[in-house]
Amino acid sequence: MEHEPAPAIFLALQESALGHLMRSSPMLYPAAEILHILGFVVLMGSIVALDLRLLGLGRTIAIQPMAQLLLPLSRVGFLLAISMGFLLFSADAAHVVRNPAFQAKLLLIAAALINIAIAHLGPWRRVLLWHGNASGGAKLTGLASLLLWVGAICAGRLIAYF
Ligand code: HEM
Repeated sequence: MEHEPAPAIFLALQESALGHLMRSSPMLYPAAEILHILGFVVLMGSIVALDLRLLGLGRTIAIQPMAQLLLPLSRVGFLLAISMGFLLFSADAAHVVRNPAFQAKLLLIAAALINIAIAHLGPWRRVLLWHGNASGGAKLTGLASLLLWVGAICAGRLIAYF
């Protein structure tokens, strides 16, 4: 069955010097994949810990100092995962862009980022009023965060099967 050709921008990325480099170097692609995994491991580790605290686990640990430690870590992990993901993508962009698992992953990441914006523009503005127990809104965005990021991981792993 003939597939629609991928949009030109993805073909251009795949045929770019970067795309060729990622395909021709024996070390670069595996190195980028290892750093991609390292990035989302740091992202997920810090986000899951904070979301579970918001949902009521570890009540003896104060939320704000925990967030001050974990949020910068999650940002570093996110930036590493995104930048290395783009390198992996550049090697086979015209093909991967049509992969339903890859498309689902990008949608889940976008939804997770919108959820972060809602959390920080909403419930987190009143963090000083929580007194050790996150507000209902913070719990809700915490639960959504857990489900969306775990979904992104699952979709990411399924890329290889489509
Ligand atoms: C921060 C969000 C991200 C998460 C949590 C994530 C997660 C994953 C996971 C779990 C895998 C499977 C790894 C494996 O089994 O070896 C994967 C593979 C992949 N990711 Fe991501 N990813 C993210 C962002 C991105 C972005 C932004 C892109 C591209 C623009 C991308 C491109 C890829 C590609 C091309 C693969 C397949 C690599 C291969 O099988 O050779 N990822 N990702």
